[in-house]
Amino acid sequence: MKNLFSEDNSLPSKSHLEDLELIDNLRKQLHEHNYNYYVLSQPTISDFEFDKLMRQLTDLEEQYPEFYDPNSPTMRVGSDINKSFSQVTHRYPMLSLQNTYTEGEVTDFYNRVKRSLNEDFEIVCELKFDGTSISLVYENGRLSQAITRGDGKQGDDVTANVRTVRNIPLVLKGDNIPDYIEARGEILLPWNVFEELNKEREAQEEPLFANPRNAASGTLKMQDSRVVASRRLESYVYYLMGEKLSSNSHFENMELARKWGLNVSKAMKRCSSLEEVFEFLKYWDVERKNLSVATDGVVLKIDSLLQQRNLGSTSKFPRWAIAYKFNAEQALTRLESVSYQVGRTGAVTPVANLEPVLLSGTTVKRASLYNEDAINALDLHIGDMVYVEKGGEIIPKITGVDKEARFLIGDRVRFAKRCPDCGTPLVRNEDEAVHYCPNSEDCPPQIKGRIEHFVTRKAMNITIGPETIGLLYDKNLIKDAADLYKLKFEDLVNLERWGETSANNLLASIEKSKSIPYERVLFALGIRFVGETVAHKLASAFHDIDMLAAATIEQLTSVEEIGDRIAQSVREYFENPKYVDFVNKLHSHGLQFELSKETMAARTEKLAGLTIVISGTFELHSRDEYKAMILQNGGKNSGSVSKNTDYILAGDNMGPAKLEKAEKLGVKIIDEKTFLEMLGF
Ligand code: IVH
Repeated sequence: MKNLFSEDNSLPSKSHLEDLELIDNLRKQLHEHNYNYYVLSQPTISDFEFDKLMRQLTDLEEQYPEFYDPNSPTMRVGSDINKSFSQVTHRYPMLSLQNTYTEGEVTDFYNRVKRSLNEDFEIVCELKFDGTSISLVYENGRLSQAITRGDGKQGDDVTANVRTVRNIPLVLKGDNIPDYIEARGEILLPWNVFEELNKEREAQEEPLFANPRNAASGTLKMQDSRVVASRRLESYVYYLMGEKLSSNSHFENMELARKWGLNVSKAMKRCSSLEEVFEFLKYWDVERKNLSVATDGVVLKIDSLLQQRNLGSTSKFPRWAIAYKFNAEQALTRLESVSYQVGRTGAVTPVANLEPVLLSGTTVKRASLYNEDAINALDLHIGDMVYVEKGGEIIPKITGVDKEARFLIGDRVRFAKRCPDCGTPLVRNEDEAVHYCPNSEDCPPQIKGRIEHFVTRKAMNITIGPETIGLLYDKNLIKDAADLYKLKFEDLVNLERWGETSANNLLASIEKSKSIPYERVLFALGIRFVGETVAHKLASAFHDIDMLAAATIEQLTSVEEIGDRIAQSVREYFENPKYVDFVNKLHSHGLQFELSKETMAARTEKLAGLTIVISGTFELHSRDEYKAMILQNGGKNSGSVSKNTDYILAGDNMGPAKLEKAEKLGVKIIDEKTFLEMLGF
């Protein structure tokens, strides 16, 4: 709490003080409820009551901005103002761990420690969480900084994002908390959230995250902490650092950390013999499959901090700890057949159909085969015994063939020549590994896929699922997304399992979509390579569909981040009479094909003809906001300094290379205040 007194230094009034007390009390209550819910998994109040308290606190905080506290429970929702991360030097370096893979290597570690210490010692075994490491700095019990591992010496300050992680306490509980501690731990994306996220990305045809680890580290580095907050990250703390820790035992420190409210895994054992260590390894190799988060091994740590200090570290690893890595889970099963799936862009994915086999707790029947090159590299034959691995990915993959088990050789798997759905010969472009079905206009899965894309939440947000789309398509009621706008009550009400309510709901949702803004309609069209962000960029550069349809490759590529590939695809779309016809049909149904009046009204030409580079970190607005302001006011935003640059909008920590180049080229450097003045703010 920064400022208890108002600006004129007078004492706060009585009601002011009461409100302050209330704020303090609400914050305490909400911290406690967060802890009960996210760390103990034992909530003591309903979600509804929790939300009520949260709303009360939010209202009070809005009323009293002077009582701002970055560690208030309301800060968990994130904010869009921080951006580009600054680099922070770790007070204590963040070391990595030496990996071992066999019981023999674990025995070697044990004997090395024994020789070195020449006294009794205990080993703490704990799970190795497979996420991204984080250092949480608590000063006087309050989270002051969260830093990624980086290169071990310096990392990124991701505090704003980490504040949104629900099981990380913003304020520690209890007494006798040293004035400075660092809690080292791992940030993870639970399996179920990872799977949901990838499903969403698949629907949007965005690249999938390979595993929860990549998803967690990608999320932590996002610019908008509101998106981070929505991703439901979790943390596990596995080490405490600080000069004033009361215990000499790592195990006891972890118990202490747990008492302070940090999330420490219960899967932890202090062992005094190698046998006990092996027992732990064996138990968790199986049991970890039932956990909600990914683990890839066990970490063994000497318990006594004094002994840890005596053993010391190399430049990379501590000598008092090692990681024992679990083997990637594999199963051997028979390849029964290969089938092919066609996506909305016509890309054809080969899928292996397998004799069902149990792997990491789920029955696997299918595995991805990626593309023709991957199939050839495996020298795959129907009937082969193949190794399947999950390795963090949602769709299992085939990693090898047991050629010894091949006694009757089946047909060699050759990539399909024709589309499995419409029979059109497939094409594979030079330099690409992917096969396409070129019959984009009449190939059913491509048409259905495009309609599915059109209706998604981030596009037209029409509440209709893939089954209904399939049904309406099969009944000849829709042949493209524009036909949705021709659907009538009578068409729907008599469909199997439909009734008046569902028919009316769908029609209402379709009607409502007519007010979806132009940039989202552009995204909904499903032009290849035009995702959500690109659609926004195109819409702000070309205010209506006619301007976009008439834009040349040069005009398109002059827009920031629009390269040849996208420009080419946009041109091809508007040169195809069938797509032009489709757009015209949508237009006639009343969809938005120009920027809204409000967006247009906010546009000016104040920066017309100016190319501006943004560099560094800012206080008043985020980089993205400055980017939007440049475009909104007719300027061009470019990523690198060149002779065409007119201004560099510079914040703190501007890159030295950019500075040098700017000075050499004589480019004017302006700060954010000057920039805002140029726009008349
Ligand atoms: S202790 C000096 N304990 O594994 C000791 N690390 O390969 C430092 N990790 O960077 C690490 N679970 O991000 C430790 N229970 C655990 C862990 C753990 C996961 C990660 C950590 C570290 C990496 C080393």
